Amino acid sequence: MTQKTVQTTDATQPEVLRQHAEQQYAHELAALAEADSHPRPPRWNLSPRAVLTYLLGGMAGDTEITPKYVGERRLMEIAVATLATDRALLLIGVPGTAKSWVSEHLAAAISGDSTLLVQGTAGTDEQAIRYGWNYARLLAEGPSEAALVESPVMHAMREGKIARLEELTRVQSDVQDTLITVLSEKTLPVPELNTEVQAVRGFNLIATANNRDKGVNELSSALKRRFNTVVLPVPDSLEDELSIVIRRVDALGRSLGLPEVPPALDELRRVVTVFRELRSGVTEDGKTKLKSPSGSLSVAEAISVAVGGLTLAAHFGDGELTSRDIAASLVGAVVKDPVQDQQVWNEYLETAIKKREGWKEFYLACREVS
Ligand SMILES: Nc1ncnc2c1ncn2[C@@H]1O[C@H](COP(=O)(O)OP(=O)(O)OP(=O)(O)O)[C@@H](O)[C@H]1O
Ligand SMILES: [Mg+2]
Repeated sequence: MTQKTVQTTDATQPEVLRQHAEQQYAHELAALAEADSHPRPPRWNLSPRAVLTYLLGGMAGDTEITPKYVGERRLMEIAVATLATDRALLLIGVPGTAKSWVSEHLAAAISGDSTLLVQGTAGTDEQAIRYGWNYARLLAEGPSEAALVESPVMHAMREGKIARLEELTRVQSDVQDTLITVLSEKTLPVPELNTEVQAVRGFNLIATANNRDKGVNELSSALKRRFNTVVLPVPDSLEDELSIVIRRVDALGRSLGLPEVPPALDELRRVVTVFRELRSGVTEDGKTKLKSPSGSLSVAEAISVAVGGLTLAAHFGDGELTSRDIAASLVGAVVKDPVQDQQVWNEYLETAIKKREGWKEFYLACREVS
């Protein structure tokens, strides 16, 4: 008989396409833990203050901590403080406002483990949140500890860690309500074994939810009451949004192993400007009203457009990010509906971009691909 071995990848190797936050920022987390002299809640790897520094950036001894979240400090303080209480944290906001990103980094900083994750979908069932069974064992031995398959939530309860539940509002309401016992009684009964798993101190849950999506299931008020809600906003200013894009594009470019392309600030600024103008329905100078296309035009998409442009520049251009590279990926992000959005986009080009000083090359490049 041939033995099958399970192939595991060593995730600490740079070969991994995307490292978990706790792997990628291991050195920052270690430096923070060492320099941290403030009290830590039970089973937290860092004090709330150090978690905040990890999120917003700063210094830990001589190690520089890069900012992960750009935005209001108070929001992150509330998020971190919530996790130290018995209430769970719900991050809501429009797409691309860093809900998943913040949730991953919070779990990494607090528990050193951001992988206890349940992805909510319309098909998520109670088993995904509570526990399931290894059916071969269940049939052979009947219900037993060994036949039980823990969900990430159950695992987090046992170990006193942070569990994450993505896209909570996509999960059907009756399944969502499974969380009520977990969050209020802090226990998960296993009637088949006549036992329960009681959450250990340190356990908490971060859920994310999108409030502008098709097919969302509102949370019941019983469940809502168990959460502290933090609304993550779209970045206030062009400069904030630009700094997010620059930072993420740089990091993504490196992880994709793209040849070095000098950061073309002007081009990135243009992408962010176009996104902001179309999103808000008015030009930055406030003078011209615009129609908005159907897509969400989030920061996340601006980042993808920039990375797309950089990839074109790196592989097919002369190593410099130009308007042509940007235009090629930008149009695809804006025009999601070939009829309506195309019209909105053409109108935007003609009324807002054509006459704008210094944007001639960009205008022509967009015309070429539109
Ligand atoms: N304020 C911000 N600070 C730092 N990064 C941000 C910010 N806003 C957006 N981003 C970046 O946007 C990207 C997308 O974020 P993320 O996937 O977390 O969005 P989301 O809110 O979960 O969206 P969705 O609702 O589509 O799931 C991340 O790479 C993140 O770095
Ligand atoms: Mg998300």
